[in-house]
Amino acid sequence: MSNLLVTGGAGFIGANFVHYWMENYPQDKVVVLDALTYAGNKANLEPVAKHPNFYFCHGNICDTPLVETLLKEHRIDTLVHFAAESHVDRSITGPDAFIETNIIGTHSLLKAAKKIWLDEGLNKENHRFHHVSTDEVYGTLGPNDPAFSETTPYAPNSPYSASKAASDHLVRAYHHTYGLQTTISNCSNNYGPYHFPEKLIPLVITNILQDKPLPIYGDGKQIRDWLYVEDHARGIDLVLKKGRVGECYNIGGINEWANIDIVKLICELMNEEFARNPSLAEKYPNATKAQQGQAEELITFVTDRAGHDRRYAIDPRKSNGELSYQPQESFETGIRKTLSWYLDNEIWWSAVMDGSYQDWIATQYAQEVTKA
Ligand code: NAD
Ligand code: DAU
Repeated sequence: MSNLLVTGGAGFIGANFVHYWMENYPQDKVVVLDALTYAGNKANLEPVAKHPNFYFCHGNICDTPLVETLLKEHRIDTLVHFAAESHVDRSITGPDAFIETNIIGTHSLLKAAKKIWLDEGLNKENHRFHHVSTDEVYGTLGPNDPAFSETTPYAPNSPYSASKAASDHLVRAYHHTYGLQTTISNCSNNYGPYHFPEKLIPLVITNILQDKPLPIYGDGKQIRDWLYVEDHARGIDLVLKKGRVGECYNIGGINEWANIDIVKLICELMNEEFARNPSLAEKYPNATKAQQGQAEELITFVTDRAGHDRRYAIDPRKSNGELSYQPQESFETGIRKTLSWYLDNEIWWSAVMDGSYQDWIATQYAQEVTKA
């Protein structure tokens, strides 16, 4: 039995990880620490909110005394660190929050973990600090470059990826210098339920439903390696169970797509859904292009993202070999599931965009940890 502290558990990947964990390991205690920024929503945790072993703490990872209290009071042995500012475009217009949360915040967690686990000796021999990072730390690839492996030199290009690279280095240093038992996973682009509609895939789906333009940055030929979010959770589970302390593991989908092709595919699938299911026209009366089978007419080329990375791709050999990791969801099934989820959850996506979910969902929580 384990006691987990999951930072950023009310965000997209964190929440999916918590759902996965509580379904597969219901006997474990899971404490979520989340600041509930614009990207974090308690609604994302509604499926586990009443589980007797689930606890939620509204707080900031930069609050080191709070983290120390949580580690002690819940006898945490495993910290899974998702909390971050995660959107590249926001890091270009406002990098400060990225430095604060991604670098200072990660260091605050490391300091607390060192103090409680190593200096005070709680779970000294048996603890894990798992840091969730990104493939963006490796920079960008040309069309024929080999995919990113764990030995690819770091070359981050945006304030977001630079802040994640800095946090990776701090985690590595706390292992090397103090012996903190750490692991890092560097994952490619995730997609799936609860993805905040500022990121490409949910933005395109929700904009089609509102008949809004689908913005394509530059020529749309940038490439990303897409992974279904539950496969990321499964990968982290394997790193926790089988990963070697002090190591990094790349997790990817072996699924490279140009942005414009993904957007065209989503348009096609949406046209099909509207043709197959006439009740969608009633549910989404504004989606006139999709109703006419012409969602792709919403595609609009716009100014490119500054410093836009051209291509990401993950070399999965280390996680395949050491962890026997393989993604289980095909892109065909994963993207259809994702589309259906957004079609069924208009209340979620319209509410998270205006922040109105927080008050309602607060009433659903059985065990809220108060701030220390
Ligand atoms: P997200 O933006 O959806 O969620 C981030 C969560 O962290 C939110 O719940 C937010 O409230 C919380 N948070 C932010 N600042 C905080 C703070 N100071 N204290 C406590 N909580 C705070 O992000 P995501 O897409 O779920 O990404 C989760 C992690 O995975 C990040 O570390 C990101 O770098 C990494 N990652 C993301 C992807 C991806 O495709 N989205 C891919 C690889 C790695
Ligand atoms: O690779 C992992 C990273 O993937 C994570 O570390 C980040 O947290 C996550 O946000 C994601 O970063 P990207 O920048 O790749 O994701 P985003 O969904 O913002 O953009 C995907 C691609 O689509 C990218 O090439 C930019 C482009 N794009 C994005 C938006 C929002 C557009 O063309 N138009 C858009 O409106």
